[in-house]
Amino acid sequence: MTATVEVESSGEPLASGVQFPEGFIWGAATASYQIEGAANEDGRGPSIWDTFSRTPGRVYRGHTGDVACDHYHRYVEDVALMADLGLGSYRYSIAWPRVQPDGTGPVNTRGLDFYDRLTDELIGKGIDPVVTLYHWDLPQTLEDRGGWTVRETAEAFAEYAAIVHARLGDRVRTWTTLNEPWCSAYLGYGSGRHAPGIQDPAAVFKSVHHLLLGHGLAARALRSAGAQNVSITLNPAAVSPLDPQNPADVDAARIVDGLHNRIFLDPLLRGAYPDDMREHMARFTDLSHIQDGDEKIINAPIDVLGVNFYTPSYVSAKPGHPASPENPGTEGIAFRPPVGPITDIGWQIEPAALTRLLDRLHQDYGVPMMITENGAAYPDGPSGDSGEVHDTNRIEYLDGHLRACLDAISHGVDLRGYFAWSLMDNFEWAEGYKMRFGIVHVDYTTQQRVPKDSAKWYREVIRRNGLSDQGRIGE
Ligand code: FCB
Repeated sequence: MTATVEVESSGEPLASGVQFPEGFIWGAATASYQIEGAANEDGRGPSIWDTFSRTPGRVYRGHTGDVACDHYHRYVEDVALMADLGLGSYRYSIAWPRVQPDGTGPVNTRGLDFYDRLTDELIGKGIDPVVTLYHWDLPQTLEDRGGWTVRETAEAFAEYAAIVHARLGDRVRTWTTLNEPWCSAYLGYGSGRHAPGIQDPAAVFKSVHHLLLGHGLAARALRSAGAQNVSITLNPAAVSPLDPQNPADVDAARIVDGLHNRIFLDPLLRGAYPDDMREHMARFTDLSHIQDGDEKIINAPIDVLGVNFYTPSYVSAKPGHPASPENPGTEGIAFRPPVGPITDIGWQIEPAALTRLLDRLHQDYGVPMMITENGAAYPDGPSGDSGEVHDTNRIEYLDGHLRACLDAISHGVDLRGYFAWSLMDNFEWAEGYKMRFGIVHVDYTTQQRVPKDSAKWYREVIRRNGLSDQGRIGE
């Protein structure tokens, strides 16, 4: 596909259809383990991702987050880059094992000092900090005691949330408790593709509950300490039946929607697990870990729901098909392999699925939302003498998804902001450094950062608070 990429400012007024609402939040996102490095510095304890990435065969070519983008030492330069892009907000996560190396007990002040410096640096440049408290790097000591399968981890999480808030709460307005608890539970304890690498369906559903409970307890602690905006980020599936006319496909989609979406959204926003998901969970574990009153705690008010979106899924009924280990209880259900254009990580590109998802979440749950992650992996790098990175395909991806957001807004969806994933190339979990999601290129040998064409394009989008009215890129 060819594209005319407009990176220079034209100063032309835009047609209203490509303009975002006034006050729309523009940001970029990262996560602690993926960018910080400095794994053994200033008293940081080990996390499950340190253990997992050191276990042979778990991560692409044995990559680890030991050095990553060395952001721990380069945050001043990185914040300057953000300021250059004109970011209004930056979404970053706090590494629990830096703050409490053992997950509970003594606080490591030097760990908090880092986030204090980073937060000040952001505010000094006029960038609003958006903090995620848990983006998957659980202290290893907590995993040794059962991780998210036990209630104590949820209680420890609330204590940790209060500790971080006590240090940063005077400057941070927006607090996200968890990032994508689906991944923590289903990939961490179901397929074992993510840390801690366990394969046990009962553990999946115990973890779902304790993650949600941890969110609820933390939300309560944050609120009572005066937090202004409390949120959680999910990765809701945009799931559709392959054949909407076929009742068996429709039922397959109901189950997958239950496992990915309603099992989280219903207790969070309606105060109770859906009946069909209670039955589903009970196939794998008794539900004694769900105590009276827990759903009420999970139902703590939130100000905004974070939505991470990358790709749609299509499912159909297929008798005899084995369940995928990451989705316990999905025997007889087939996930269609991606069709059409895909990104480097193999994810299908379909911006309209984002509009459908936002419309549905708005209709069923009526909650204000922010896109807290959206982006694409492409194997790009500096080209020719100029050293520029011409990532036209990423611009197309982002442009298409921003138009999908505009479509949802025009349907009445209360969408408050958008965070590109990611500010820079980083450690992409089990894929190591192979997958590059950044709008800024990172050379892992020299740690040199080079804004890609997508970064320059994004700067222009932010400046205009809208998209070019030249039509969809690539059309
Ligand atoms: C999301 C994660 C994020 C990143 C993107 C590509 O699931 O939250 O850390 O890995 O996928």
